Amino acid sequence: MDPSFLIKPSLDAQYPLIDYGKGVFLYDKQGKKYLDACSGAITANIGHGVEEIIEAMNEQAKKVSFVYRSQFTSEAAENLARKIAENSIGDLKWCFFVNSGSEATETAMKIAIQYWQEKGKQTKTKVLSRWLSYHGITLGALSMSGHTARRARFVPLLEDFPTIHPPYCYRCPYNLTAPECGYLCAKELETAIRRIGADHIAAFIAEPVIGAAGGAISPPEGYYKVIKEICEKNDILFIADEVMTGFGRTGKMFACEHWGIIPDLIALGKGMGAGYTPIAAALVSEKIIKTIVNGSKMIMSGHTLSANPHSCAVSLSVLEYIEKNKLIEGVEQKSIYLFKKLKKLQNKYPFIGDVRGKGLLIGLEFVQDSQKTPFPRTTRLIQSLIEIAQEHGLLLYPAAAGTDGINGDAILIAPPLTITKQEIDELVSLLQTSLELLDQEVLEPRKEGGV
Ligand SMILES: Cc1ncc(COP(=O)(O)O)c(C=O)c1O
Repeated sequence: MDPSFLIKPSLDAQYPLIDYGKGVFLYDKQGKKYLDACSGAITANIGHGVEEIIEAMNEQAKKVSFVYRSQFTSEAAENLARKIAENSIGDLKWCFFVNSGSEATETAMKIAIQYWQEKGKQTKTKVLSRWLSYHGITLGALSMSGHTARRARFVPLLEDFPTIHPPYCYRCPYNLTAPECGYLCAKELETAIRRIGADHIAAFIAEPVIGAAGGAISPPEGYYKVIKEICEKNDILFIADEVMTGFGRTGKMFACEHWGIIPDLIALGKGMGAGYTPIAAALVSEKIIKTIVNGSKMIMSGHTLSANPHSCAVSLSVLEYIEKNKLIEGVEQKSIYLFKKLKKLQNKYPFIGDVRGKGLLIGLEFVQDSQKTPFPRTTRLIQSLIEIAQEHGLLLYPAAAGTDGINGDAILIAPPLTITKQEIDELVSLLQTSLELLDQEVLEPRKEGGV
């Protein structure tokens, strides 16, 4: 093996060398096959190796791959923005293209701050958020993220943004159930606004369904209505972080649609390029754009590769593929089928405490007992499960869970939206094998050892 100088997530681990992908499967150089049950990082939403996308990529590359957005516009970028506007909700018609989810949320944050500046409200600069959230790794996006482990090293550099509890009904901080709870966790936003002062707050950001920071926590029915009302009442913009949920993952184009709410800004990422190209976007409402057009006329953000024709052409072909193959329409049925099977596994393995989520974004939270005691970090439960699954040809995505940001484990199951019924059966069978081995090799010996 040649020496490697590539910085990988873990510097002392060995990673399989990928060869190619087709549909929901990936194949490494040793010829081993993996069922991609998490679309990589909930990204490969249309599966791997789709010919149409490769053709669109080649077509654009033959014309021009890059132009700088302050010198040219391109058909690819214009067509993509138009397509998104056609499929958007409310007056969210304007696209600011960037290259990653972190850039999308951070751009949304900056646009929210600028919006208030243009209206003469210079002090509205904070962006409130929730614990158990992830909005990205750049410092602005990380400041908004209530992900304890990812913040830990940089806390002194971060703004103090996460404030309120997430809608984590499985571990309700008030020990209540919705709707009788009156959505106290949403009403915490009102309290936080009073304490800080609406004059200092530009926006509130939330993932409609919490991804890796909470293992697919999906809110109860009336939650977002309360959030939206509080934002409107206090002149605070609502940013929906749909980086993970956007473009069909939950069975709607945007997850917000499940609750009939229209944000002021939406951050998009992962599913936009479906892994075929780096692209992301901040979707901006007409109201915000008009204010800026009537003011400075220029949004103070952007990146060298923003709106590059190559990525825009690829993303457009991904959207067309989703539409042509009615992938979003198929999500609900596939989700019901997969949920039913995962619930059966929960009955068999009591250490699966909760099966939750929306559409094809499903989380499994693991617990020690019926009191929902999380496993301590030292058990390395998730790492063990992921290693066992990978060994058996199944890819799973780790997620955080629990209330203290330290102990608590979940995984995300989020296969490409193209997965077939037969492939779902295969996924669940591989998962069962992995859970059985986790029980035998990790959990049972742990009980015997009394730890
Ligand atoms: C909800 C959400 N927002 C933002 C991000 C950051 O996206 P990226 O990793 O592309 O910067 C992620 C990534 O996992 C995410 O899940």
